[in-house]
Amino acid sequence: MTQSALKESAPMSLPHPSFKRVLLKMSGEVLMGPNEFGIDSTTVKRVAKDIKQVIDRGVEVCVVVGAGNIFRGVSGAAEGMDRTQADYMGMLGIIINALALQNALEQIEVETRVMSAIPMSAICEPYIRRKAMRHMEKGRVVIFAAGTGNPYFTTDTAAALRASEMNCSAMLKGTKVDGVYSADPQKDKTAKRFDKLTYMDVLTKDLKVMDATAISLARENRIPIVVFNVREEGNFARVIDGTGTFTVVSDK
Ligand code: GTP
Repeated sequence: MTQSALKESAPMSLPHPSFKRVLLKMSGEVLMGPNEFGIDSTTVKRVAKDIKQVIDRGVEVCVVVGAGNIFRGVSGAAEGMDRTQADYMGMLGIIINALALQNALEQIEVETRVMSAIPMSAICEPYIRRKAMRHMEKGRVVIFAAGTGNPYFTTDTAAALRASEMNCSAMLKGTKVDGVYSADPQKDKTAKRFDKLTYMDVLTKDLKVMDATAISLARENRIPIVVFNVREEGNFARVIDGTGTFTVVSDK
């Protein structure tokens, strides 16, 4: 790791100026908007509009969303619940978020398909890699639901797995801050935002971009991770255009 890689500087261009296909990863908390729980319909509509802006640029988009606005498996386990049971409840929470997002996208005429890692054929399609590819080639937004279908794996890991399987040009991690900082910017005013980092920087400095399994998977498959603020309207498209503020994690 070089110190220059960690230096803060002006917004930079992404390694892939023209994206063919990207995966957007959002935590479930994004969908609760200003509330403390659940799904805020205004926010879901805004997120859907942001996704449409990117689809309209000819970029293929798939989405992985978490469930923290409904149920957090890790917290459930911390409170004494069996971890696997808690994780399965989290996966069901993801399905609810995926259906809400699908509904909002369809209301603005964006074709979508929800594909679940846990087959629930009355509600959505089962995840089939080749079918997901075909959907995206046809311009549909594919929402991957239920994580990897396994307990103990985070939605970040599910995102890295699907981004790898889908040959995505990048994985865009939408958070509440505009990149990766040296410390929590909400607690430490001296925290600096990094423009770029290597996967190893993130792992060795424990920078909490994503969990280690997700970072390792992205690293092995050379998928850049772009961390940006998804709560600000239009930011997803700005990142795609290379004009927004973000941090890129890659092997360079
Ligand atoms: P192409 O025909 O390949 O373009 O894709 P398509 O998704 O339009 O065709 P398909 O006949 O597979 O699906 C038609 C509709 O049924 C779509 O809205 C799918 O999301 C939905 N669908 C397909 N398979 C399932 C399933 O297993 N469960 C549920 N609930 N819906 C499904």
